[in-house]
Amino acid sequence: MTRRTFLTATVKTILLSIVTGVSAVAAYFMYPAGLRTRQTVYCDCMDDNALPKKGVKRAEYRFKLKGKEMTASVFIVNQEGTIYALSPVCTHLGCLVNYNRHKNEFICPCHGGKYDTSGKVISGPPPGPLTRLPVKVENGRVYIGVVLPAAA
Ligand code: FES
Repeated sequence: MTRRTFLTATVKTILLSIVTGVSAVAAYFMYPAGLRTRQTVYCDCMDDNALPKKGVKRAEYRFKLKGKEMTASVFIVNQEGTIYALSPVCTHLGCLVNYNRHKNEFICPCHGGKYDTSGKVISGPPPGPLTRLPVKVENGRVYIGVVLPAAA
């Protein structure tokens, strides 16, 4: 390695470090403080008697975001006694998937993406599985864990 090559590589490394550092600081200040940190909030969803005995059930839960009352839907799945929740948001471009009871799969109406009841992609363009949301049962109620900005 010549002296010139060594100095060029050193200068490029230093410049890249400066650009990366400046970008990180700029990104930090571009987002409001509440969006910089996130927290999992458990939202009341249903009575535990309403949990599906087996298969898939669509449910709704409420939460507050920036002081506004919001409603979102979720699929509660009971697969051989294991209960979990799946977000209905397609991982391709964000359309809401529907559950097809006869085929026992989730189908996205936008581009035909298909998922099995574990959320795994069966076919189509989705790049990854449906998001699993935490579920907890307390005092006879079912709660869904949703990640929200800390200031929500
Ligand atoms: S948005 Fe669901 S397959 Fe494209």
